[in-house]
Amino acid sequence: MKFTMMIPLTLFILIILGGSVYCERPSVVNVGAIFSFNSVIGRVAKAAMEAAASDINADPRILSGTELKLIREDTNCSVFMGSIEAFQVIEREVVPIIGPQSSSIAHMISLIANGLQVPLVSYAASDPTLSALQFPYFFRTTQSDSYQMAAMADLIDFYGWKELAKKMSKVSFKLTLPTQYDLSDITYLLNKSKLLGPRVYVVHINPDPGLRIFTVAQKLHMMTGNYVWLSTDWLSATLDTFSTENQSSLKILEGVVGLRQHIPQTVQKKAFLSRWRKMQKNGQIHSELNVYGFYAYDTVWAVAHAIDKFLNEHYNIPFSFTDKLHDEKGTETQLGKHKVFDGGKVLLKKLKDINFTGLTGQIQFTTDQNLVNSDYDVINIAQMAIHGVGYWSNFSGLSTLPPETLKEEQISHYHPDQKLDNVTWPGGTTEKPRGWVVASNERPLRIGVPNRASFVEFVTESHSSHKIQGYCIDVFNEAQKLVPYDIPFKFEPFGDVKEDTVSTLGRLVMVVWLFLLMVITSSYTASLTSILTVQQLSSSSITGVDSLIAGDWPIGYQLGSFAYSCMTEILYIPQSRLISLGSPEEYDKALRLGPSNGGVAAIVDELPYVELFLSQQTDFGIVGQSFTRSGWGFAFQRDSPLAFDMSTAILQLAETGRL
Ligand SMILES: *[C@@H]1O[C@H](CO)[C@@H](O)[C@H](O)[C@H]1NC(C)=O
Ligand SMILES: *[C@@H]1O[C@H](CO)[C@@H](O)[C@H](O)[C@H]1NC(C)=O
Ligand SMILES: *[C@@H]1O[C@H](CO)[C@@H](O)[C@H](O)[C@H]1NC(C)=O
Ligand SMILES: *[C@@H]1O[C@H](CO)[C@@H](O)[C@H](O)[C@H]1NC(C)=O
Ligand SMILES: *[C@@H]1O[C@H](CO)[C@@H](O)[C@H](O)[C@H]1NC(C)=O
Ligand SMILES: *[C@@H]1O[C@H](CO)[C@@H](O)[C@H](O)[C@H]1NC(C)=O
Repeated sequence: MKFTMMIPLTLFILIILGGSVYCERPSVVNVGAIFSFNSVIGRVAKAAMEAAASDINADPRILSGTELKLIREDTNCSVFMGSIEAFQVIEREVVPIIGPQSSSIAHMISLIANGLQVPLVSYAASDPTLSALQFPYFFRTTQSDSYQMAAMADLIDFYGWKELAKKMSKVSFKLTLPTQYDLSDITYLLNKSKLLGPRVYVVHINPDPGLRIFTVAQKLHMMTGNYVWLSTDWLSATLDTFSTENQSSLKILEGVVGLRQHIPQTVQKKAFLSRWRKMQKNGQIHSELNVYGFYAYDTVWAVAHAIDKFLNEHYNIPFSFTDKLHDEKGTETQLGKHKVFDGGKVLLKKLKDINFTGLTGQIQFTTDQNLVNSDYDVINIAQMAIHGVGYWSNFSGLSTLPPETLKEEQISHYHPDQKLDNVTWPGGTTEKPRGWVVASNERPLRIGVPNRASFVEFVTESHSSHKIQGYCIDVFNEAQKLVPYDIPFKFEPFGDVKEDTVSTLGRLVMVVWLFLLMVITSSYTASLTSILTVQQLSSSSITGVDSLIAGDWPIGYQLGSFAYSCMTEILYIPQSRLISLGSPEEYDKALRLGPSNGGVAAIVDELPYVELFLSQQTDFGIVGQSFTRSGWGFAFQRDSPLAFDMSTAILQLAETGRL
């Protein structure tokens, strides 16, 4: 059976390649490895790839008779160098290229790889926009950042650091560092960020052995309570490679929470770890192992499996010269003579079909050529050690059980209770930080108060002391005491005495506190009401707002109050019937004069003013039902987190009866 299969295949090769009649496999296949030698990931990946190559070459079950040779090139973190080297390694007939580390270099090389039909298999380029849709020759043997960001979003949601009282969080500010940032760049950015409200930082940078961001943050007193530092996998990759001598640098990281690609604890993983230790002892390796070592190791195996399958059918690695290149849009580009891999499409297919168990778990690609596994560990740095506090997986969210256990127990496709072990936060506290501040002492919250001349019991600026005082101010002061964090603030009178305060306020949300009060106590049903004189109370035909509208008597309203627009725009009372009144004294005078003597038949005003007025007068009373449902309130900027906390505080004041 085997024999009869071989003959047509050989004939097939003869036809396709014309002259080259190879019945034997090549003695060597060259695999390109483009990465930054002197980097946190590169140092580990180099040793891991070499270990994989030597394992493959010693294993008779794979690529037997053919040596897998790694052709290494150092990109030195440069996109330009990476691109030049991609051309150089392809000239040496490598298939495929493993690497590069960095996503920006991967973007560039992917274009070249497409043009020359050489697959690119990266164990570290995590940018989700590097997709097979745009770069058909790109494979990713680590996790896409789209999963890492989903994990980060779940973490933020879990701790409730969102700006609104909904299941919704947003990136409030992006602090962008230049590519070659130095300490002064970080200092400037972080110092500037202190003036902003949010205190939850998500740090997403390249691995940095100097931990410069945290060193600066510590100098700026930002590694303390109130601050939350979340880090993507660059931090665990960096820390895992630290030798015991610089474990002391973990001290500045107290309270940081980070993610690390999850690799299940298996016999193979443990064996590789102890082998690594042995190589360290022998002086063959000078770095501790991190997850990228496991991924790089599996990547070489994936490539070897694909080449093995390819050679089973094609016997050699066919390259040809061309001066025509096709870019991703199919247009021809003149680049001079270049070698193109003629077996590109076939090898691509072999890679897509990879399915084996590696150190990191199942090595298999999704249709968009990412690894099927996408789980993370959640780590917390406390007491100068790295603690695992839970796991994240795409199918179960956050949990204290490893994803493979959940998968085994078939707890899938629904999110069970999200859970993590206790975390120590910056400053050593175990209590969850609030995650943002409204204001700081340097930049207190500015609170506008209407500059009123009438009904000064509610709010006014004292003439003698210039202190802002009144009932509204008392309510604010009491409520803010119940908000569980400090709000440095100052009052600022605004508007001139006659201004309509509501129309000057733009994008605001109202916390209608008198309305809340009404709901709780049920003692008021609404807030606009009308007052009539005693004489009219007994004899008049006015029994409420409807009969007031039906008549043609003059109606009083408070200058600057929304009662005016309510009456003209909602109740369609002619403006000619409305008379503005500036103070309680004018109310009194107008009501006493009555409609036929230049006064008013009734005044329509907000209930609190009416109540205040009536508390000092016994000759007048309220008729009919109150007729609108708006109340008084504090107005906040839309999206202000303070709106929610102040509402809660005012409810508390109402419940205790203090309001
Ligand atoms: C790598 O780049 C840095 C700065 O970009 C340079 O100083 C260094 O010499 C380069 N190293 C190598 C090996 O090319
Ligand atoms: C941080 O910014 C403040 C101004 O907001 C400035 O006074 C201070 O000098 C800055 N500190 C550093 C270390 O740059
Ligand atoms: C850790 O050690 C490495 C190598 O000795 C050094 O480059 C790095 O700066 C150290 N990191 C810290 C934070 O001390
Ligand atoms: C991949 O391999 C596993 C275990 O060897 C097997 O259960 C699974 O069916 C394979 N998947 C595909 C798509 O071949
Ligand atoms: C991740 O989760 C989403 C939503 O549940 C699902 O659509 C997607 O297929 C999942 N991806 C993987 C690789 O499991
Ligand atoms: C976690 O914190 C809670 C409340 O602070 C405490 O009751 C519990 O014992 C802690 N769990 C552990 C494992 O420390």
